[in-house]
Amino acid sequence: MSAPRPSFFYHLHPPTIPAGEARFRHTFGLGGLSLFLFLVLALTGALEMFYYIPSLDGANASVKAIAYLAPFGWLVRNAHYWSAQAMVVVVTLHMLRVILTGSYKKPRRFNYLLGLSLLAFTLLLDFTGYALRWDEDIHWALVVGTNLLKEIPAIGHTLYAIAVGGNEIGASTVVRLYGWHVFGLALPAFAIIVWHAFRVRRDGGIAHRTPNSKPQTSNSNPADSARFAVKLDRIDRAELVRREVLAALNVLAALIFLSIFFDAHIGLPADPGATVAEATAPWFFIWIQELLRLWPPLVAGVLVPLGLMLVLAALPYWIDRSETGVAVWLNREGRWGQVMMLAVLAGIAGLTIWGALR
Ligand code: HEM
Repeated sequence: MSAPRPSFFYHLHPPTIPAGEARFRHTFGLGGLSLFLFLVLALTGALEMFYYIPSLDGANASVKAIAYLAPFGWLVRNAHYWSAQAMVVVVTLHMLRVILTGSYKKPRRFNYLLGLSLLAFTLLLDFTGYALRWDEDIHWALVVGTNLLKEIPAIGHTLYAIAVGGNEIGASTVVRLYGWHVFGLALPAFAIIVWHAFRVRRDGGIAHRTPNSKPQTSNSNPADSARFAVKLDRIDRAELVRREVLAALNVLAALIFLSIFFDAHIGLPADPGATVAEATAPWFFIWIQELLRLWPPLVAGVLVPLGLMLVLAALPYWIDRSETGVAVWLNREGRWGQVMMLAVLAGIAGLTIWGALR
């Protein structure tokens, strides 16, 4: 019998992998779940493209046509909306798990950076998708959010024109945002996801504990060492695929349930020139909206988000350079990174809840 042809699928699914890599409470399946949500978004988004009209008059009306007129359009739109919201949460949790288990360390540093770029892509995709709705509720995103780009010294106005298609929000803005959403963000994100998944295997599979692996430093936490007793089990390709399919079906069922019972909102058409008493940011940027009440736009809307990304990127290069090669929840070497990540997330969550309740 001839050997199977090498393929991307076989690269991701070798004949066997250590059972520790596939333990649910090690990864919670969050990377795979992010991937699945992205695929749902790509499929439902492609279907929406048949109806969406990227123009000032057409955008809001065509979203309503998808929601109320197109056969099963409501289901497709709701599934697109809920997958997008879930993706922001799931990708953030995936990053949290990577940081709390120390899976960002060498040799996975580069893949960690690829992942970080995917977090930025996820947020920008959600932001542009939300603006494509073109209803009165996107006022903050359209006016305050995009104006933040102008705050960037020297290149700000150019970036703004590239983002919105001119010196002000106008006729070309919808098609420009549409272009960004589909070709400028979703396509590159897909390519980076493929690269990210490829690198997981290339870097030696998902970082985990093996019976022979020891924490690297001699003064490691004894509790970590005690937790090292893991059986040398392996699972085969069929079992791995079976678990993946089962997880995907569960998530699909949850998505369909959400989409049937909870409709994505759509309001009256947007009027960017109108004066709005209190515009609200999309939920994932409420923390920036709150910071803008405290600090100048350059600081709150540009320097803080960029600074946070830079600190996260610096984690495996400057903050924790240990090379354990194994992943242990709350490992001692990674304490600084863990505390930093939890503090940042707590701050963002606190500001979001505060802003949402106000
Ligand atoms: C669209 C977003 C993303 C997708 C689709 C994705 C997908 C995946 C998948 C399928 C895995 C293997 C399974 C797992 O570890 O759960 C993985 C692992 C990994 N991801 Fe992501 N990811 C995304 C975002 C991120 C982010 C935001 C980070 C961190 C900043 C990140 C860092 C990593 C690292 C370092 C690994 C290897 C982990 C290990 O060896 O244990 N990823 N990712």
